[in-house]
Amino acid sequence: MPALYAVRTYGCQMNVHDTEKVANLLHHAGFRPATDESEADLLLINTCSIREKAENRLYSDLGALREWKAAVPGRVLGVGGCVAQQEGDRVLRRFSHLDFVFGTHNLRLVPDMVEAAGLGERQTMTDEHRSLDRFDLPERHEAFAGTTPGRAFLTVMEGCDMFCTFCIVPRTRGREISRPAAGILGEARALAERGVREVTLLGQTVNAYGRHDLKRGRDAEAGTMAFGALLGELAATPGIERIRYTSPHPLFFDDALIQAHAAIPEVCPHVHLPLQSGSDRVLAAMRRRYTAAEYLAIVERLKRARPDIAITTDVIVGFPGETRADFEDTLAVMEAVEFADSYSFKYSPRPETAAAEMGGQIDPVEAQDRLATLQDLQRGLKLAGNRRCVGTETTILVEGQSARSAGADSAQQLRGRDPYHRVVNFTLPGELPAPAAGTLLELRIVEATPHSLIGERTEDRPGVKDPLRLVDGTTPASRESELPVS
Ligand code: SAH
Ligand code: SF4
Ligand code: F3S
Repeated sequence: MPALYAVRTYGCQMNVHDTEKVANLLHHAGFRPATDESEADLLLINTCSIREKAENRLYSDLGALREWKAAVPGRVLGVGGCVAQQEGDRVLRRFSHLDFVFGTHNLRLVPDMVEAAGLGERQTMTDEHRSLDRFDLPERHEAFAGTTPGRAFLTVMEGCDMFCTFCIVPRTRGREISRPAAGILGEARALAERGVREVTLLGQTVNAYGRHDLKRGRDAEAGTMAFGALLGELAATPGIERIRYTSPHPLFFDDALIQAHAAIPEVCPHVHLPLQSGSDRVLAAMRRRYTAAEYLAIVERLKRARPDIAITTDVIVGFPGETRADFEDTLAVMEAVEFADSYSFKYSPRPETAAAEMGGQIDPVEAQDRLATLQDLQRGLKLAGNRRCVGTETTILVEGQSARSAGADSAQQLRGRDPYHRVVNFTLPGELPAPAAGTLLELRIVEATPHSLIGERTEDRPGVKDPLRLVDGTTPASRESELPVS
């Protein structure tokens, strides 16, 4: 029987994708996924350190896992991700039942580290490698399907050279490096051949792709190009019908990228555009390198290129020195943009970042109050946006059973996302075969709720016999075994 692995993943999409990369490497090394941690021989924790709470999660997990490790001799426990990169050997020294620590640039070493652990060796590998080797990973093993049927993450760049004053990421992900386009396009083709319809391009500042090479005039030599051009090349990949990217930085929205949203149908009408603050004073202290007016100008250009575009964002409240007036500036920008959704956070001081040393740290109760006010405003904006969709038709990529389907009778509660990245729930009569996750399906929006939309199947179009109107023409029966529960 092959050895079984399990992974706990915290943090952003880069971490989710790193977990996929490690899982694929483990498949190539003969491991298979455990259905449950209790039967795993190997347990990995892929950590996040973006806020203090995320980092502390690792320490409480590790404390609780002493029992897991002791229960079966030979079990192996490893820690990777951003806390691993930040803390390195300190984690290994603090937790004697931990076998190894691997950094964000050392994913390829994991199978070897597991083997060494089997021989009793404890080690930390967190060297930062500036080479492109990190992108040369084996193709997906045939037994490894990825975690999101029909969709896939695709790394285009890694690292961050921006050094926003609040942020730990430049320390945990290292310097910015862009992957040669040939590798990106080759991976997109291989994914499409395995049924992937939607790719999400990943990078800490994804639209900074190629910028250092272009600036030095060595893009041809490096095999990179401007981000807008990369979108065009990817859209030409047969089978790829949707392209998303995250997270872009407002500083790198050139005309080619804006125009890609107007001219390339595969590029989704959704941009996640982190704002962080609507106050110029706070933005400057954060070292974000744009003003609120410049941010709004990008939104304007995007809306001109694609009037129906959905914009989502990240916001931090309670940054050191943020006054009530600064906070109100943030609310004003949120109202002006009418964000479809936002992720908002209380500022959390991070080790060795410039903001952690700043005066004027905000009282936690006040920060909590600002967060609640902001989230209230966002709830209203989201519901209003959702209501405007009612009556429209949209195409969703089926993700699986909807959260509300627990205990459902014969009707099937399913969920998917439309091009605007909105969650759409819909019900199918029990007698119809379930459309597989990864299938594109046309729906009409019939109801708006605070968190999602409710869709119904559209009427039969002339000449279309398929009762589910699958846009890709695949019959549901041939794909039904792929339906995951998510
Ligand atoms: N590269 C992305 C951000 C990635 S981190 C960008 O430049 O926008 C995801 C989000 O976490 C950030 O957008 C920010 O809103 C939040 N964040 C980062 N550091 C934080 C901190 N120290 N405290 C609170 N929120 C933070
Ligand atoms: Fe962090 Fe700023 Fe880099 Fe985003 S751009 S990862 S917020 S340093
Ligand atoms: Fe967290 Fe690292 Fe992502 S700190 S948000 S997992 S880049």
